[in-house]
Amino acid sequence: MSPTPAMRGLFTEDTWMVDSAARADEAPQHLKQVSRIKHFILQKYLPAWERILGSQNRLLCYFDCYAGPGIYEFHGEIVDGSPIIAVRAAQEYLTKAKGHQMTLILVEKNGKQRASLETELKKMQPYQQGLHIHVMAEDVTEFVPKLLGEVPNLAPSFFMVDPYGHPLTVPILNNILKRSQTEALINFMYYRINMDAGNPRVQHHLDEMFGNDEWHTQAFLREGGWRRERGFLEYFMSKIDARYKLPFRIRFDVEDGVARTRTKYYLIHASNHPKAVLLMKEVMWPLGDEEGLFDFSGETHGILISSSPRGEELKEVLLREYEGTENEFDWLREATWDLPFIEKHYRAVIKQLKKDGRATITPVSSKKTGLKGRDRVRFLPSRRRSAG
Ligand SMILES: C[S@@+](CC[C@H](N)C(=O)[O-])C[C@H]1O[C@@H](n2cnc3c(N)ncnc32)[C@H](O)[C@@H]1O
Repeated sequence: MSPTPAMRGLFTEDTWMVDSAARADEAPQHLKQVSRIKHFILQKYLPAWERILGSQNRLLCYFDCYAGPGIYEFHGEIVDGSPIIAVRAAQEYLTKAKGHQMTLILVEKNGKQRASLETELKKMQPYQQGLHIHVMAEDVTEFVPKLLGEVPNLAPSFFMVDPYGHPLTVPILNNILKRSQTEALINFMYYRINMDAGNPRVQHHLDEMFGNDEWHTQAFLREGGWRRERGFLEYFMSKIDARYKLPFRIRFDVEDGVARTRTKYYLIHASNHPKAVLLMKEVMWPLGDEEGLFDFSGETHGILISSSPRGEELKEVLLREYEGTENEFDWLREATWDLPFIEKHYRAVIKQLKKDGRATITPVSSKKTGLKGRDRVRFLPSRRRSAG
């Protein structure tokens, strides 16, 4: 699919930079709905992430690799950008977690963006005790590798990787993700990257992103449409060394003037802990449901979301994969983490299966009638089949 000139304009970094430079002195940059979604995710995810990891660790870190100006105009109002959202979450966390520390590293190479960010940060001072904020006037592609080289043992960290175009390179991302209890939310700007893949003049950006030129020989490049898109995404994710990679598809915004069925970018949450991926799924699902902007995929379990009622699909997968076995409720959720269902769906489906005589529940974490945590669930064969 070849992009229209209008689309190309959407993705040129120069257009963005001129735009941001011109506006920084005057009014906050305008933010589109599809960018606002990232902020909702952070607002919901970071407090829970801090609470969970903070229960075992006195120091946590948040890295905003492409911090931006700190505020935007959205629907005529001023709204927080990712670094300010992170600061608010950290302040809130530290009011309760006395004696704990949080370090926020906000990297922004553009002077005007940084000036705007600094202005917003000043409004939030004095900071809560234990909060340390560093605004780095650096190119993050140089700064992060240097930092990782100097800090062998990073405290549990969340990396926000939200560039206009290509993200941090795969080798840098993998260097981040090999640290224990470290995770990243990566903006994989599919449309831009896919466009560059077809343009020999800028293909070197992809060589840099992947850390080599193997991508040139991949089969997905000979495909078009959805097969190419899925192939490209899967290939990128296969290069990310993290146990859990959860992609959320974000379509074009009505303001982009591009068909809203097309993918603008993917937010990929990369982590190594099942609790992290399950928490992110809980955060993302309602946004997808309400806004209709996200798509989950359960393809690895052979389900196609649109074809049948959602509860039926979950029921089918659970019975097909776990009939005759007994497992903890949370284990089931972890084992099927890439299904497009959240905790309340599992609970409803399993309770219904119990009513239908296809499951038993042995309470462990719950009192009598609930279903959570370490409660044990056994899926029974259907009577008809066992009788025959
Ligand atoms: C999409 S904006 C970030 C938005 C921000 N994450 C938010 O949600 O509020 C990308 C920012 O990254 C900055 N940037 C681009 N390349 C960079 C680099 N190599 N190092 C540091 N900052 C960079 C740009 O100046 C811009 O302000």
